[in-house]
Amino acid sequence: MSVLARPLSLRSGLTLPNRIAKAAMSETMATPGGEPSPELEVLYRRLARGGAGLFITGNVMVEPGGAGEPGNVLVRPRKGPPLEAFRRWAAAAASGPGVAFVQLNHAGRQSPRSVNGAPVAPSAVPLRLGGMFVAPRALTGEEISALVGHFAGAARLAQEAGFSGVQLHAAHGYLFSQFLSPLTNLRTDAWGGPLENRMRFLVESLRAVRRAVGPRFAVSVKLNSSDFLRGGFGDEEATVVARTLDQEGVELLEISGGTYERPAMFVAPRDSTREREAHFLDYARQIRGAVGCPLMLTGGLRTPRVIEEVLLEGSADVVGLARPIALEPDLPMQILAGRTRASAATPPSGRLAVLAAATEGGWYHEQLHRMGRGLEPDAKLSRVRTLMSAARTMWRRAEGG
Ligand SMILES: Cc1cc2nc3c(=O)[nH]c(=O)nc-3n(C[C@H](O)[C@H](O)[C@H](O)COP(=O)(O)O)c2cc1C
Repeated sequence: MSVLARPLSLRSGLTLPNRIAKAAMSETMATPGGEPSPELEVLYRRLARGGAGLFITGNVMVEPGGAGEPGNVLVRPRKGPPLEAFRRWAAAAASGPGVAFVQLNHAGRQSPRSVNGAPVAPSAVPLRLGGMFVAPRALTGEEISALVGHFAGAARLAQEAGFSGVQLHAAHGYLFSQFLSPLTNLRTDAWGGPLENRMRFLVESLRAVRRAVGPRFAVSVKLNSSDFLRGGFGDEEATVVARTLDQEGVELLEISGGTYERPAMFVAPRDSTREREAHFLDYARQIRGAVGCPLMLTGGLRTPRVIEEVLLEGSADVVGLARPIALEPDLPMQILAGRTRASAATPPSGRLAVLAAATEGGWYHEQLHRMGRGLEPDAKLSRVRTLMSAARTMWRRAEGG
């Protein structure tokens, strides 16, 4: 049996039927009230047929103030959860051979002014990206404790809805990342300062989630191997955090990297990694040496040859594919059957790569939206047109339209 087709059992008792995961992709397809929409159900029924062993949903925000984009699914703690809509979503995601996790997130300061005019963060450190982001306010200690509770509540909701697990999004510059980074966490209380304090919010949330869901429900974390910012959260600290999460019982640790300021998740951070596809393979190897829990590696993987090599050498136990699945939802099945040599989703490269990365999100969102409308993805879709339409939507919202 190919290494790709081998099932993987997690500590909670859950078994992934194979080693290919659909990594989280924010769908931006919630109802105006922030509930999972019928389109999300249609999308996940389509994706589920593609044969991945694990489906991780796009980020679901644990409270409305944590939204990062228009159309995020939101958990509204006081109103009581919209359980039925989550149930239908969970059933759709698990309608194929794979199991499904909900990714839980809070955007913190990484939420554009058109979405959040009063964002919160560990400290009042603004995100300077073309005037798109309002300077955040620093959270109080009480608010941080409340947020820990929101992550636990959202995990419980995912469990009641029938998902098999949750993933805490501690990568890509969102709130957990902001706490981890010494550039954005300038606090002098128990939540800031030495790494032990900067990781407290993540560790406390992980513990609270585990308490809320019990031992038979999978809990995963997506962690940056590095933010790739000078003086920021880097690979040595990431290894220490990974070791702590392992000791705290995390069952599947996904390795990624980058933030809005340095989008290494979309564009390889170094030439050598671009040549070799897997953006964060060196980091996964380093973390592999420090932890015993299963690792998932996501970012840039495109060919069955490299995917198999990564699994065979043991640097990761599961590989995550995002853009390739948005473009070719049946790719996992084709890889497992040995029927494809490479994904058609080519990551941006060359001197204009970072510029091209700006169009990546919108273009792939549009592919997900097409599937939500019952259509197939369209590789010929104009990138410029999708960028302009996304910009128009943002502008209209900023103007209050
Ligand atoms: C449209 C889109 C939305 C994304 N949304 C999320 C998200 O909600 N949570 C997350 O952890 N990563 C998100 N990502 C990043 C992917 O999970 C993945 O880390 C990244 O695309 C690199 O993997 P790939 O080369 O296989 O695409 C998103 C990527 C795309 C293209």
